[in-house]
Amino acid sequence: MSSSSRVKVVLACDLGPEIMPLLYERKDLELVVWAKDTACDRDWLLKNAVGATALIVLVNNKVDSELLDAAGPQLRVVSTMSVGYEHCNLPELAKRQIKLGYTPDVLTDAVADISIMLALMAGRNARETMTVVNEGKWPSYNWAPFLFCGPQLSATPSHPKRTAGFVGFGRIAHATLARLVPFGFTQCLYFSNPSSPLKPSRDASLCESLRLAPGAIRRVDLAMVAEESDVVFVLTPGGKETNSLVDEAFLRKMKKTSVLVNTSRGSVVDSDALAKALHEGWIWGAGLDVVAGEPKITAEHPLVREPRCAILPHIGSATLETRIDMATLAVKNALAVIDAEEMPAGLDL
Ligand code: DGY
Repeated sequence: MSSSSRVKVVLACDLGPEIMPLLYERKDLELVVWAKDTACDRDWLLKNAVGATALIVLVNNKVDSELLDAAGPQLRVVSTMSVGYEHCNLPELAKRQIKLGYTPDVLTDAVADISIMLALMAGRNARETMTVVNEGKWPSYNWAPFLFCGPQLSATPSHPKRTAGFVGFGRIAHATLARLVPFGFTQCLYFSNPSSPLKPSRDASLCESLRLAPGAIRRVDLAMVAEESDVVFVLTPGGKETNSLVDEAFLRKMKKTSVLVNTSRGSVVDSDALAKALHEGWIWGAGLDVVAGEPKITAEHPLVREPRCAILPHIGSATLETRIDMATLAVKNALAVIDAEEMPAGLDL
């Protein structure tokens, strides 16, 4: 088949030996792949997108009108290997009738796992204490009754109440809550987009399936999530509507012993306000997998300087199993559109 009659698919990364054969076996495709280990160069993407029918991208590839213009009017699908789509300009895609594929569900458990890990790390001073060991300072810190103590995630007979708060209450939040129930959490307060309808029957059946008391899961206003929760999990998509939703006012309302976990998008949390909250002790600690402005987060960043802030470099979905599933789904989404079939996971634009 001549290259002009083949369908051009541009990948912003090599998806590895388990996934790439799904594409290589298709003789009707012309594949153009950013083959280096580094993040795909923007100029390379703009240049190579020309004439593409499908673009397979990652969270760090901005899908904006510049890229869509560069690709040209034949572009039919953008498939992102992510559940988040803050990096994609949805109105532009919709206007041009370009479909968007994404990868929900397959990463839910991996991100819920790491949300719990960050809650534990932040509460139990993981960063500070590991630094003591890693810097060879353990000999100066002999065991002492209250040394390095922090709030316990699990309930205890003397402190039996635990309330989980969620900013955003989708699939990953539900999976995180399921993990918290065995820790003794009995109450769940969540805030979600005020223009979305209440979901009493969904919440009631979630209570039942998680063996929580009827009414234990409640949608409330943002202030109440801040005031009542022992741990607040930020799990809402990024974008204009949620920008700095967790701001100084929110953080000032939180309990001094509470912990903030963000495993969604950095933009949802005001970093300066959080650094101030940690510095001045309005909250106990924070566990972040994402930070506004990432990956340009250096050692001088105000949050990196806070010892009670455990930061991971956006690895929420980084398990071998999950990344294989995400990459497979991203390829299947692109191929489905090329083959004029329904995408297994297309976003309604
Ligand atoms: C996603 O899929 O949106 C994650 O943030 C990437 O790990």
